[in-house]
Amino acid sequence: MNFKYIQKTPLYKTFSDIGKRIFLPEGIFYWARRAKNEAELIGTIGSAYGFEKDFIDGGSSDWMPCYLKEISEYSNLMIQDIVTYPSIGGLLETREIWKEWIIKKSFYNEEKEKEKIKNLKRYITTPIITTGVTNGIFQSCTLFLNPDEKVILPNKRWGNYDNIICKFIGARIKSFEFFEEQNLNLDGLKDAIYDVGTTQEKVLILLNFPNNPTGYVPTKEESKNLVNLLKESQVSIKKPLIILVDDAYEPYVYTDDVLSRSIFYDLYELEEDVIPIKLDGITKELLIYGGRVGFITIGLKENWFETDEDLETLKKEIDNKFEGFIRATISNCNHFYQSLTQKLFNEKGIHQIIKSREKVINILHDRYKKINSELARINNPKISIDPNSGGFFLFVNLDPDKIKAGEFADHLLKKYKVGVIPIEKLDENVNGIRIAYCSVDINEIPKLIERINLALDEF
Ligand SMILES: Cc1ncc(COP(=O)(O)O)c(C=O)c1O
Repeated sequence: MNFKYIQKTPLYKTFSDIGKRIFLPEGIFYWARRAKNEAELIGTIGSAYGFEKDFIDGGSSDWMPCYLKEISEYSNLMIQDIVTYPSIGGLLETREIWKEWIIKKSFYNEEKEKEKIKNLKRYITTPIITTGVTNGIFQSCTLFLNPDEKVILPNKRWGNYDNIICKFIGARIKSFEFFEEQNLNLDGLKDAIYDVGTTQEKVLILLNFPNNPTGYVPTKEESKNLVNLLKESQVSIKKPLIILVDDAYEPYVYTDDVLSRSIFYDLYELEEDVIPIKLDGITKELLIYGGRVGFITIGLKENWFETDEDLETLKKEIDNKFEGFIRATISNCNHFYQSLTQKLFNEKGIHQIIKSREKVINILHDRYKKINSELARINNPKISIDPNSGGFFLFVNLDPDKIKAGEFADHLLKKYKVGVIPIEKLDENVNGIRIAYCSVDINEIPKLIERINLALDEF
């Protein structure tokens, strides 16, 4: 592959050295494909095959991947859907199903917005399968960030970003204060964009709504302003903006005044080179955390190519880059859960999946209301709650002059037997506790908050 088209797009400019270098060499795939079409005797596949009856008592005469007979006791999926290697970028059918799912999640009206749906289908890539959203974040950050380059993130963020970006890649985080008086701090973000934009040939930003640890989702107004800010900044600094959209908690939104779908769609609609990369997965979205199936989907821009053929070649080149990365790191992702996802969508259907999940969303929604109403009853200047409308968590800020988050969490645990996650990063102005109300029974929430309240009086 000579990457002729990708090199003409702004995407290429944003790649890290690894991103520029990596690709999936033809190698054994070339010979395996040729053998499949041309050979009578195929000795290219690196998995053991045999006649089923030769390794399974009572087995058939079919030529099958060899497997342990005990395995079939644990699942009624076909053995070929469990034990064999899936393709490197993921099973094509599962990838296509997820693309349909992404189109569904756009909430474009199927009658009135046919053109938008058609375009979305055309201009987004077919999702590449990753080992959970974490692996999607890891892959994207590595493909776009060189050591010492900067990525923009709010000061309140999932701690694992720091592991991936700083400790693993050796890149840096340009942090901005997330909130200014309970609103999204767009001025802080703007300063960060201009700061990074003057020293780098691209600006990388990672957004995560509903957010971990705060549960924040932008209001419709804030999100409009955010999209405008990104658009105007791109025009002004004249460098591509890559927006990594971590949609791990996408469906868990509990109020009507906030953005009800991923911000990916609004960014994808922009003509400017604000390039969104959607990172989502079955892990939280379909409540299959250990299934470790995630997806990377890129929103391409209409003005990057002239013909349909260019577009298709570009998509192939992008796939090849990701496949090269996957091959070099994890080789491929769990086959069983890719098959299970496929079955779920094909046999149960999107409506049934949404209906079953609705019950869980309602449970979480009730807990969200309960915990916020309990916290609202505490009138204590030592704490403040960040705006929250979705996800699994909320964040209680503690006055750093009076309480250190780590000490507070320790005290809560020892004296009140309450477990929370303290986040204490005084250099980034963060000092508070994350409460994962997603895992607390609604009836226990008043007790939980009461104990936190009692503990506050002891500091
Ligand atoms: C914001 C955020 N992104 C991604 C992940 C990881 O998701 P996955 O389990 O799909 O790797 C988490 C998990 O805690 C998270 O909070």
